[in-house]
Amino acid sequence: MDFNRLAHHRYSVRAYKADPIKDEELQLILAAARAAPTAANRQPFRLYVIETAKWTEKLKRLYHRDWFVQAPLVCGIAAVKPEGWTRRFDGVNYAVVDAAIAFDHLVLQAADLGIGTCWIAAFDPDVARELLSLPDDCEPVAFTPLGYPADDWRQKSRRPAGELVKYL
Ligand SMILES: Cc1cc2nc3c(=O)[nH]c(=O)nc-3n(C[C@H](O)[C@H](O)[C@H](O)COP(=O)(O)O)c2cc1C
Repeated sequence: MDFNRLAHHRYSVRAYKADPIKDEELQLILAAARAAPTAANRQPFRLYVIETAKWTEKLKRLYHRDWFVQAPLVCGIAAVKPEGWTRRFDGVNYAVVDAAIAFDHLVLQAADLGIGTCWIAAFDPDVARELLSLPDDCEPVAFTPLGYPADDWRQKSRRPAGELVKYL
């Protein structure tokens, strides 16, 4: 799919089939995340592939939506703050930004393969830390189911370009 079509075709899938994801496809999705740019190429993230059937009860505590546990896999990403690049002027650490970019590569590669995702930030961070065994200096950033959509693409609602884009 050409990139512009992909950007418009991806949507947040909130109903999934239980059909398994082929390992070749999963590997392409993970490789796309790893190919993402990161500040100073620090790659300060860890990506987690979680088998839904093995972890259903904990995943239900992580995010309380029935559709969250319908897909065969859930992916999560955590930022490793000590590995992140820090801007010297104000000390801002970019590990969370890097993790978000990697996760969006994952999401877009999945969409290109016809595999659905939905960014989830409204998860319980304590449950995320427990599930992923995260130390205090790692920040859980996002989760998504990874599975074939059981719903349909919806027309996107976006603010007008004039409100979002400024030409200086
Ligand atoms: C950082 C981020 C966090 C999000 N968190 C959630 C979430 O917790 N639950 C949810 O159902 N959707 C979540 N979404 C999905 C957004 O609601 C969705 O992307 C937005 O409404 C636009 O719809 P679209 O993705 O179908 O284009 C999140 C999206 C982003 C980018």
